[in-house]
Amino acid sequence: MHFRWVVFGLPLAALMALGSYRPSAPEIHTRPLVIVFSSEVNGYITPCGCSKPMVGGMPRRGTLLRQLAERYTLLRLENGDLTKASGRQDELKAETLIEMLNQMGYDALNLGKYDFLLGMDYLRVLQQQFKGAMLCGNVQEGGKPAFDAYTLVERPHNGRTLRAVIVGLISERHAEAVRRRNPQLTITPALQKLDELRPHIETQGDLRVLLFYGSEQEAEQIAQAHPYFHLIVYANAGDGPMPPKQVGQTRLVFAGNDAKFVGIAYLSEDAPYAIARVEHTRLTEAFKDDEQILALKLAYLARVEAENLLASVPRRPTPNGSGFAGSRACMPCHVEDYRIWQRTAHAKAMQTLINEKHDKDPECVVCHVVGLEYEGGFQSVEKTPQLKDVGCESCHGPAKLHAQDPEKHRLGKAGPQSCMTCHVPAHSPGFDFETYWKKIEHGFKPASGSR
Ligand code: HEC
Ligand code: HEC
Ligand code: HEC
Ligand code: HEC
Repeated sequence: MHFRWVVFGLPLAALMALGSYRPSAPEIHTRPLVIVFSSEVNGYITPCGCSKPMVGGMPRRGTLLRQLAERYTLLRLENGDLTKASGRQDELKAETLIEMLNQMGYDALNLGKYDFLLGMDYLRVLQQQFKGAMLCGNVQEGGKPAFDAYTLVERPHNGRTLRAVIVGLISERHAEAVRRRNPQLTITPALQKLDELRPHIETQGDLRVLLFYGSEQEAEQIAQAHPYFHLIVYANAGDGPMPPKQVGQTRLVFAGNDAKFVGIAYLSEDAPYAIARVEHTRLTEAFKDDEQILALKLAYLARVEAENLLASVPRRPTPNGSGFAGSRACMPCHVEDYRIWQRTAHAKAMQTLINEKHDKDPECVVCHVVGLEYEGGFQSVEKTPQLKDVGCESCHGPAKLHAQDPEKHRLGKAGPQSCMTCHVPAHSPGFDFETYWKKIEHGFKPASGSR
């Protein structure tokens, strides 16, 4: 076998110097096989870190997989939706995620409905880049399959060579979503496609896995009609793992989305093979970032900066027709409010992003500054320093006219709803107006003499 050649072809000392010689680890060919699986990264290369403790991220996944690979032979499978939207930033994310999957040695990637938002031309580019098999067998272009329906992988398992068939399909329920961006594509119902594939896969290999971009219910129907799969990884079931379900000899599994968990399916020792047990590992702080995966993330952020995506955020006119003045412009008349604001977390929200190296990332900056989505709002720390951080006008609205003539241009109430553009559950799960307001409470009469 190729790998053994490499191991025995190098002197022991050289191996030890390379750090790849670990006397305690079982030899490659005697290790048991495990299948690692997950669905729908949805663009979460890493979690945003807005609330603690933060869970998930590809750099942590890299570490988990590296640890597992010391004791097991891995089959690495990903199911659908690397990203969740179209646009340049999602293209950069998708490319980065493909590189990360390559780095971690992924064998197969099935496509989901959001992947198709990137368009077929772009998916072809990603397919070229991906070292594993990009699957989605029931999508046709011009009457021909647009992607492979399955791939065959050989792996050692307890001293034997095990052959695995990995099939990838998408639910026909997503046909409309897929065709909105790609009207030339058609989708054959998954069950119908499997009827076609059955003679080719039913008796192939020792292990058969289906990556299915569809619901648990549909996966169950498949397991009943096509009972020769050992494992079906499904999708669209939320951000946490679901309890595995046994249907005949098939185990239906889902490890949650947003790259928070990794599913691990352990195989029985001997043929006929079966899934012995399934675990879901939550990617907590206990997993350090894998340095190579982290380097790919930093390279992605560098591209976001180099392409200056911050400058291409779509802008709309402000609701009250005023421009932005910046928090400092309020100080002369609202001295006490300004002092209070300066001591709040809002006043260092940009520094937080700088520390996280996300300060040029429009997906983060939008909530950590004043008015990114508006004409005349934040552009960059250099061009609009007065609008960095969450400022007075993040809540009170654009107030340039008010600052020039406060009597004529009143601002009205900010109210608790002004918090909700940013303190959304995904970024501020513990938000409660009463307790949060107490930490930033202000609202003094304007300084006398300013009237
Ligand atoms: C929808 C708005 C929103 C977006 C988008 C957003 N944030 Fe936040 N961020 C918040 C809010 C609100 C808080 C405060 C949460 C709380 O304390 O309840 C916060 C807090 C944080 C904190 C914690 C600060 C601390 O010291 O406690 C970090 C770090 C952070 N954000 C980084 C990011 C990064 C990185 C991104 C982009 C990947 C991002 N944020 C995108 C709204 C957002
Ligand atoms: C030139 C002095 C001055 C400046 C500068 C100024 N304000 Fe005011 N502001 C006032 C006065 C005076 C009032 C009270 C108006 C009234 O009650 O008749 C007021 C009222 C307010 C109110 C209460 C709502 C309202 O319109 O009555 C808010 C909120 C407010 N200011 C926010 C801001 C913000 C934010 C800025 C900076 C962008 C700012 N102000 C700049 C003088 C000023
Ligand atoms: C423009 C987006 C935005 C708006 C609007 C906003 N916040 Fe925030 N808020 C943030 C961000 C970002 C942070 C984290 C700042 C940091 O630490 O970097 C934050 C942090 C906070 C914190 C500190 C949390 C802590 O645990 O220390 C409080 C309190 C808070 N916000 C209250 C409010 C309230 C109350 C409102 C509405 C009246 C509001 N915020 C409106 C973005 C926003
Ligand atoms: C995180 C959101 C937020 C930020 C930032 C903020 N405010 Fe407020 N402010 C409020 C809320 C909410 C109220 C309560 C009254 C209301 O709903 O308008 C208020 C009240 C006020 C009032 C009294 C309004 C009245 O009707 O009596 C003034 C004046 C004011 N803020 C000025 C400022 C100034 C000046 C800054 C910046 C130095 C600032 N605020 C920053 C949310 C904010």
